Amino acid sequence: TVVMPWTEEREWHVPAAGRTDDRLTAAENFSRDALYRIFYLAGTYRTSVAKDRPLDHVLKGKVMALMFYEASTRTSCSFDSAMQRLGGRVLHFNESTSSVKKGETLEDSVRTMAGYSDVIVLRHPSPTAAGRAAEVSPRPVINAGSGTGEHPTQALLDVFTIREEIGTVNGLTITMVGDLKNGRTVHSLARLLTLYKVHLKYVCPPGLEMPQEVVDFVAAQAVKQTHCTSLEEALPDSDVIYMTRVQRERFADTADYERCAGRLVLTPQLMTLAGPRTVVLHPLPRVDEVSTELDGDPRAAYFRQAEYGMYVRMALLTTVLGRA
Ligand code: CP
Repeated sequence: TVVMPWTEEREWHVPAAGRTDDRLTAAENFSRDALYRIFYLAGTYRTSVAKDRPLDHVLKGKVMALMFYEASTRTSCSFDSAMQRLGGRVLHFNESTSSVKKGETLEDSVRTMAGYSDVIVLRHPSPTAAGRAAEVSPRPVINAGSGTGEHPTQALLDVFTIREEIGTVNGLTITMVGDLKNGRTVHSLARLLTLYKVHLKYVCPPGLEMPQEVVDFVAAQAVKQTHCTSLEEALPDSDVIYMTRVQRERFADTADYERCAGRLVLTPQLMTLAGPRTVVLHPLPRVDEVSTELDGDPRAAYFRQAEYGMYVRMALLTTVLGRA
């Protein structure tokens, strides 16, 4: 069973179809070598797609089940597109039209879908869902976002994007901005970046700080972390600015959300403080934290980032399904 990394189990077990040395796993055992292989394959897929080379033999005959209990555009559609480009087929399980409405448990739904597919891609509001699914699934389970917990495949595509845009990850200062408390992408990204020599900076509204367990994990890997009080302070020596939205859906109290929203907004004027090679990333969707006026700036890489997600997920599916 595969649990894409950093579920509470902290393991990525290799599926029967996979290779036993593929422990592409929690941050502490997710090797640079494993990342390198996924990124290399993603790069070749990027080139193949650009050159219109046929790829539909790679996962011919394989079926992927998309099980989404939360809304998604990029993750669900890029996984779907990745599977289709590689010649596989896709089963869509929609929480709102499934027997979840009749009270079926996550475990029972996963067991059922595993009987129809070769790999399950799961998004769920519970941070423990991917682990629970993997416990009962005879097929690999990829965590496609687990509540306020983790979003490991987003972290993979984020690091791939940094490599594509800047050419390296080592030596960079990467500034994470916004809702660091509830944003699962930054939790996974901070953990994954501990495999590199980086300096992490954090900028957030009061009360939305990075969870202590993530800070502790990063510190234990001897990665430098700095808390900044403003974008003005962080921008001048940032190589990557990773913006995130304030996650309205995670707030119990609207007044608390209103207090935090709209406080950190990246504008063309602010970007005059950043270097000419600084890259602006965002997992998307955005609300208002990145001005649309910035979209034409070549440093704004967030739509390229969304596209790179497809190549990374093509590489991941190929690896997980034992065709790498
Ligand atoms: N980045 C991301 O997870 O986007 P979606 O919620 O649209 O999948």
